[in-house]
Amino acid sequence: MSSNSYTLNQVREIFLNHMQENGHVIIPSSRIVPDNDATTLFTGSGMQPMLPYLLEQPHPLGKRIADSQKCFRSQDIEEVGDNRHTIFFEMLGNWSLGDYFKEEQIDLMWDFIINKIKLNPDRVYVSVYKGNSSLGIDKDEVSIKKWQEKFTGLNIEAKLGLDPEVEGMEKGVRIFAYPDKKNWWSRSGVPKNMPVGEPGGPDTEMFYDFDPSGSIHDKSVYKDNVCHPNCDCGRFVEFGNNVFMQYKKTEAGVEELKQKNVDFGGGLERIVAALNNDPDVFNIDTFEKAKNKLEILSGQKYVSDVSVTFTDTTNPTFAYRVILDHVRAATFLIADGVLPGNKDQMYFVRRIIRRAIRYARNININNNFTADIATTFIEYYKDLYEELLVNGEVILEELNKEESKFRKTLEGGIKEFDKIYNKNPNQNISGKDAFDLLQSFGFPVELTIELAKEKDLLVDLEEFNHLRESHANASRTASAGKFKGGLGGDGIQEIKYHTATHMLHQALKMVLGESVSQKGSNITAERIRFDFAFDRKMADEEKKKVEDIINEVIKADYPMIREEMSCDEARERGAVGLFDDKYGDRVSVYHMGSNSKGKKRGEDGMFSIEFCGGPHVERTGDMGTFKIVKEEAVSQGVRRIKAVLE
Ligand code: ALA
Repeated sequence: MSSNSYTLNQVREIFLNHMQENGHVIIPSSRIVPDNDATTLFTGSGMQPMLPYLLEQPHPLGKRIADSQKCFRSQDIEEVGDNRHTIFFEMLGNWSLGDYFKEEQIDLMWDFIINKIKLNPDRVYVSVYKGNSSLGIDKDEVSIKKWQEKFTGLNIEAKLGLDPEVEGMEKGVRIFAYPDKKNWWSRSGVPKNMPVGEPGGPDTEMFYDFDPSGSIHDKSVYKDNVCHPNCDCGRFVEFGNNVFMQYKKTEAGVEELKQKNVDFGGGLERIVAALNNDPDVFNIDTFEKAKNKLEILSGQKYVSDVSVTFTDTTNPTFAYRVILDHVRAATFLIADGVLPGNKDQMYFVRRIIRRAIRYARNININNNFTADIATTFIEYYKDLYEELLVNGEVILEELNKEESKFRKTLEGGIKEFDKIYNKNPNQNISGKDAFDLLQSFGFPVELTIELAKEKDLLVDLEEFNHLRESHANASRTASAGKFKGGLGGDGIQEIKYHTATHMLHQALKMVLGESVSQKGSNITAERIRFDFAFDRKMADEEKKKVEDIINEVIKADYPMIREEMSCDEARERGAVGLFDDKYGDRVSVYHMGSNSKGKKRGEDGMFSIEFCGGPHVERTGDMGTFKIVKEEAVSQGVRRIKAVLE
């Protein structure tokens, strides 16, 4: 089926040329690790570096900008393994900063996908915003009309479907209207979850239909539901999103920005897959050399199976996809100066390298190979991303070093795991065994979980977490997601301060207003430093109130509960914190309160709820007394609190 007629590099070039011909200034990709943005560890979408300009600061290069941005969505790590998810990808972007708007954007897009790269229009479907009466915003008639003109111009029927989740793929329907949940875009999702001041707006998304016969759907876990473009069965892949960023969040709702912006984001890899009419993004040319090498090393061919998903962890196709994605991501991260380590972004690089190595075992690759695979990516991307070439040696060296170190850990840990398993086959792994594996062999708990999963067993994480926290010398953890917490160490005191950070964030919102949002945090064993958006000095009474709220929560000894849920549910429940991925399915959330299970923020029983990977104390009691020692300005509109637990 695949003709692989387009390469990734070609499609990027066609897009950028197209935008340039249409008056856009092409800018280089920003680093994956943002330079001036403490709110996020990685650049997850093309608009992130553009934020000040979307908020009406003039861009030095004008009102029409385009690029291809290196993006990294750490929260998608568990999704990798299916035919379309990667943690690293390039996002094609174009922006109108108060220049052209909806109709011109749709013209520009149509010209690109239909005339320039010649995507088959029969396979293209679009979604539009259905409106929200409580915000006083109607359905997006302008976009609907424009798309209708485009499709009918090519003799393609283009009816509007107003209830896709019920009606499904009715004949002649091409344009699907969805509410906020699907067709409103902001960094924090639907309007009601946006912090005051955050920009966002309705969007119109473009999908490619890989399987008009519907057989992908019929074989998927979604087979009993009707299929529609936002169905997750894999038949449709969203490849581009035109956001009409014309609103800003206020206390009461949203207000129009003076400047009506367009923010387009297109998944470059997915567009190439669509052009090849092959739903497996790992079949695009970018991965070809790496795949060939892996085939030689493993002695087995890559099987491009669309039905393999992220749950099929023992399937060789899963292993191939994890390796290809993670090694490419690590190559780009190291090139941007993030070396494997124990903190923040560095921990993430370590984790993905280790994960690639661990899955390579499943296809019989047991010797150092990551540098070899990275070489193919350096070669592929070097002309555009010079940093790969300049740092080529460092990339290979770091990968090799990390791999050698981890192989030792892996061998020892796996032997020990097998011993534990063989003693009591078919019995779940106790928290104590998982903790011993960590303590004595440095064997990360997520690997224990994965090994257990392969045998259909669970790990007692509650006991594991308890042991980890109560163990005074617990100096190493490999808790998933830790990289998000701004945590400097792994000791018990730091964990308490991390929990206190959540309390502080919520208490500040209660005392100063919902618009307070975290801008950054830094934790040592001695104190928290917490930066937040707020435009004046805090009064003494306000500081006192914040302290009182927190000390009451400590005294109440609430359990700290971790739950995994869909991003939508987390938003629904008012989880605060940073996430910029509208599509990432499962997220980790921590909440606390007298009865917080199932509750939303603001409801009785729920005190705080945040997107977070942990680690946290098990209960809030026994944390000492919370005290603010300093409150000061860091920059215009950003305050900093230093606080201690005494
Ligand atoms: N900012 C939009 C997105 O990431 C285009 O989907």
